[in-house]
Amino acid sequence: MTVRPNIAVCGDSTTVENADITVIGGAGHVGVPLVLAFADAGLRVNVNDLNKDGLEALKAGRLPFIEHGAEPVLATALANQRLVFTHSPNLISNGGPVVITIGTPIDEFLNPIRKVVQSCIDSALPALKDGQLIVLRSTVFPGTTEWLASYLEGKGRKLKVAFCPERVVQGYGLKELREMPQIVSGTTSEAQREAAVLFERIVSEVVTVSPLEAEFAKLFSNAYRYIEFAATNEFYLIAKSAGVDYRRVLAAMKHNYPRLSGIPRSGFAAGPCLVKDTMQLSAFARNQFSLGHSALLINEGLVLHVVEDLRRRYDLSNLTVGLLGMAFKAESDDVRASLSYKFKKVLIGHTRGVLTTDPFVTSDPELRPLEEVIAKSDLLILCAPHAVYRDINVRGKPVFDVWGHLEGANVIR
Ligand SMILES: NC(=O)c1ccc[n+]([C@@H]2O[C@H](COP(=O)([O-])OP(=O)(O)OC[C@H]3O[C@@H](n4cnc5c(N)ncnc54)[C@H](O)[C@@H]3O)[C@@H](O)[C@H]2O)c1
Repeated sequence: MTVRPNIAVCGDSTTVENADITVIGGAGHVGVPLVLAFADAGLRVNVNDLNKDGLEALKAGRLPFIEHGAEPVLATALANQRLVFTHSPNLISNGGPVVITIGTPIDEFLNPIRKVVQSCIDSALPALKDGQLIVLRSTVFPGTTEWLASYLEGKGRKLKVAFCPERVVQGYGLKELREMPQIVSGTTSEAQREAAVLFERIVSEVVTVSPLEAEFAKLFSNAYRYIEFAATNEFYLIAKSAGVDYRRVLAAMKHNYPRLSGIPRSGFAAGPCLVKDTMQLSAFARNQFSLGHSALLINEGLVLHVVEDLRRRYDLSNLTVGLLGMAFKAESDDVRASLSYKFKKVLIGHTRGVLTTDPFVTSDPELRPLEEVIAKSDLLILCAPHAVYRDINVRGKPVFDVWGHLEGANVIR
């Protein structure tokens, strides 16, 4: 007999037994907006996650990270008792679909780790009932969805398997979930149909494809974005080598010219998804993904280019360098795979000291207030172009700005 631990119920209404849906990884960056979108659509949601702190924050009405516009939706979901919070695989509801939004990292060989999905499924299996729909929403290596269906079949389990990739931009997930079409695939027509019905509760348009097509669609999207950033970064480096301000070139290229309206500005491109997914695709292509690898060289190399440029201009060993913005992108508190930390690591070996600051990041005890970093640094680098930095007074200190975010005589581009 399985002994069920105490169930953490928020309010009276939603319980593990009566929840309409479970989101495994529901306290994560993909999980939270999805949970809120389903709750907002009237579903009772079991928010299942190993991260107790994340669950506690949600239960208290706080978001564990920045998700724009989500706070009132969370408050309403809590007030309407739409959520139950659980932190054990024993506590997965067996009355409705189970959506998996756990992290799917790559290993030290830049290869995907299938075991992550397998372990999650293995631990959830005893709680699942035959006939239930499992929706993979994490980004997965091509073939994973079909593999999962065969794996379950091999264990004598009759579960439906779907893959419905998340494509929203981090921080604006709730808004984009409602506005963007949802790609839906299933290993059987029944699984696909059920997954489509589920997502039609929260999105206006569903696009159905096969699991392999959906897996490629997700990986191609992220790899393409990463390559786009690399293209603009390489243009920046070429323009810079000729003493030309890339911002002016970009502005001229884009002015009333729709074909180039989407080209991004130069800047540091990293974060938890783009590199990982480009490398997953490369692993699938047996490393024959030259554009993906070139993008990695350019985007990761931009940090080293800036450091080398500064070393040529200054005797860094006598200087303290201040890093502005430690999140991996603007207006975010997420430091996962942030190139700001690559700067920190490289510069520690070349400088008198490195000081760091960020208005959003709360997870790094070494961060200092902006004013202190500006006052104590001899030289600054704009790492993440948060809007608040646009008008800062850098007190005449030189500041390296790859983004083209700042104005002023002391800005190095
Ligand atoms: N972050 C994004 O903007 C984004 C966008 C699209 C797709 N994705 C993909 O979505 C997936 C999740 O990414 P994320 O950024 O939300 O990661 P995350 O780390 O923020 O969230 C994952 C959550 O899963 C939980 N978790 C891990 N294993 C678990 C388990 N066995 N049982 C219960 N909970 C478990 C973690 O505690 C965490 O809260 C990844 O595959 C990622 O590539 C992310």
